[in-house]
Amino acid sequence: MSTDAPAVYPPSAEFAAQANTRGRELYNRADADRLGFWAEQARRLSWDTDFGDVLDWSDAPFAKWFVGGKLNVAYNCVDRHVEAGNGDRIAIHWVGEPGDSRDITYAQLKDEVSRAANYLAEIGLKPGDRVAIYMPMVPEALVAMLACARLGLTHSVVFGGFSAAALRSRIDDAQARVVITTDGQFRRGKPVPLKANVDEAVDALVDGKAAESVEKVIVVRRCSNDIDWHDRDVWWHDTVGAASPEHTPEAFDSEHPLFLLYTSGTTGKPKGIVHSSGGYLTQASYTHHYLFDHKAGTDVYWCTADIGWVTGHTYIVYGPLSNGATQVVYEGTPNSPTEHRHFEVIEKYGVSIYYIAPTLVRTFMKWGREIPDAHDLSSIRVLGSVGEPINPEAWRWYRDVIGGGTAPIVDTWWQTETGAAMVAPLPGTTACKPGSAMEPVPGISANIVDDDGNPEPRGEQGLLVLDQPWPAMLRGIWGDDERFRETYWSRYEKQGWYFAGDGARYDDDGALWVLGRVDDVMNISGHRISTAEVESALVGHSGVAEAAVVGASDATTGQAIAAFVILREGVDASDPEALIAEMKAHVSKDISPIARPREIIIVPELPKTRSGKIMRRLLRDVAEGRELGDTSTLVDPSVFENIRKQRA
Ligand code: WTA
Repeated sequence: MSTDAPAVYPPSAEFAAQANTRGRELYNRADADRLGFWAEQARRLSWDTDFGDVLDWSDAPFAKWFVGGKLNVAYNCVDRHVEAGNGDRIAIHWVGEPGDSRDITYAQLKDEVSRAANYLAEIGLKPGDRVAIYMPMVPEALVAMLACARLGLTHSVVFGGFSAAALRSRIDDAQARVVITTDGQFRRGKPVPLKANVDEAVDALVDGKAAESVEKVIVVRRCSNDIDWHDRDVWWHDTVGAASPEHTPEAFDSEHPLFLLYTSGTTGKPKGIVHSSGGYLTQASYTHHYLFDHKAGTDVYWCTADIGWVTGHTYIVYGPLSNGATQVVYEGTPNSPTEHRHFEVIEKYGVSIYYIAPTLVRTFMKWGREIPDAHDLSSIRVLGSVGEPINPEAWRWYRDVIGGGTAPIVDTWWQTETGAAMVAPLPGTTACKPGSAMEPVPGISANIVDDDGNPEPRGEQGLLVLDQPWPAMLRGIWGDDERFRETYWSRYEKQGWYFAGDGARYDDDGALWVLGRVDDVMNISGHRISTAEVESALVGHSGVAEAAVVGASDATTGQAIAAFVILREGVDASDPEALIAEMKAHVSKDISPIARPREIIIVPELPKTRSGKIMRRLLRDVAEGRELGDTSTLVDPSVFENIRKQRA
């Protein structure tokens, strides 16, 4: 980084002049009347029955937003654009990994969603029933989500990279009646089975039982790979494909649960985060419009997330479609078939808004700027970042190389639980500092406090809290109110604040810097994985007696998983490399390849405090090759010498 790089990057005068909001107008309005401001944002949507009170917080921490209002989420994302005369507008430029593609207009999307809704209704699904969606990034995945929304079914999308075991635990927890999947998915040009995982998940005996809630598995043909067939299976093209494209949507209560999305917490058991309809869609739509300065009909928007994560829900499906966006949906990885892939797509479709994770920026940096430089990226006018803190060097590279030295970068801090972006600059307003998410978006209130809830002075690190409810906030953890209160609301119970689990600080100019998790949640390439989950997978391996897992910093993925394991008595460790490879494969299979440890270190003992707590801080020091911190509370400091020797 050159020392004369500017400290702040204000928007250009041209950008500011055309932006969806000017200056501090939105902040001022939200500050003057927060709830009135949110009512205004809610009215960007189409409501079947108008709402009364904007917020009912009397049963905190269970919020109700836009009380008594009724709407249909899918109508808002699809039909109303057709009714407004934009049926011929492309909703989705879909790009398949092997090079096939499809353009889908809003009118076609409406037909597809209606067909799927008709079939799901025909097989007896009722509002409130849960549907698991386990699919790669094919158009039918978005159609399936919208069809659920249209019928008031609560979808639970399970990332297609998750294992059969992970899928099963999510099916069971939600008691899903239907699973929608594909025969296979493309991975770097090769078809790999997916439906087989559904078979394995549904048929596996857990406590002596198969997944009894599942009545049907709907299979989209994607790879034409061989699959086994069961009585419960039907083809999408035979069923949805044969259904009528006419369907009249019914309005649902603003608080109707739109979806569950499982995410990692500090224990081994993932939690099903519950999101609402009206409040969620209001904030998804509002933030997509203003944070990306989105202009329907002219922008081509591309968010490269997967629908298996919250970013895919909010900024591929509900945010952009509610705003009538034209967007790219890409099925594959950035280096398939070559490292030019994303830039070819940007060039071909004239992508103007591009939203990715910092880990991808750092990967592009590693591949070298001659790759993007070989393409015309001049269509890009706004860049987004999400999932982890973006380091200033990557920020500057992103702006210079991908953004032509002018595109504003919108660094969006948020969580599965918050539903939509919470802390981020406004691209036409904010003078951004590379690496800072800057300030709470208009209508959102956040603070940085110490353990007792006292505000931290500028410059001091503290804990990020959300001190006012917000429309897209989670409405609970599926089936576990106690865990919901305990996880998010018990730490600042007296004040009634939401504890985010992230450390942060305000700098001397009042810019907000998110510093990363303060709990045992790791962030691997922007994916949340808990140390406990990986530990529990490791001890599920027959050779492992005990395991301790830490997130060690990694130049590309942000954090990488380092595991320390103690072997069981009598395990044959004559070929430690083979044993370690087997353990890594075991974690991949049990959770997902993204949870596969970068390194596993076999140790004779783990460092524990006198009270028996594993000292992860010290393990992190070891994994990152640092001098050891304070070891004075250890039972036996010589444990470390042994661990270091193992590593050397
Ligand atoms: C981290 C992803 C810094 C943070 C939308 C948070 C970030 C967790 C940022 C949520 C950002 C997300 N800057 N850190 N812009 N965005 N995080 O639930 O630690 O997958 O708590 O939601 O990612 O991850 P989740």
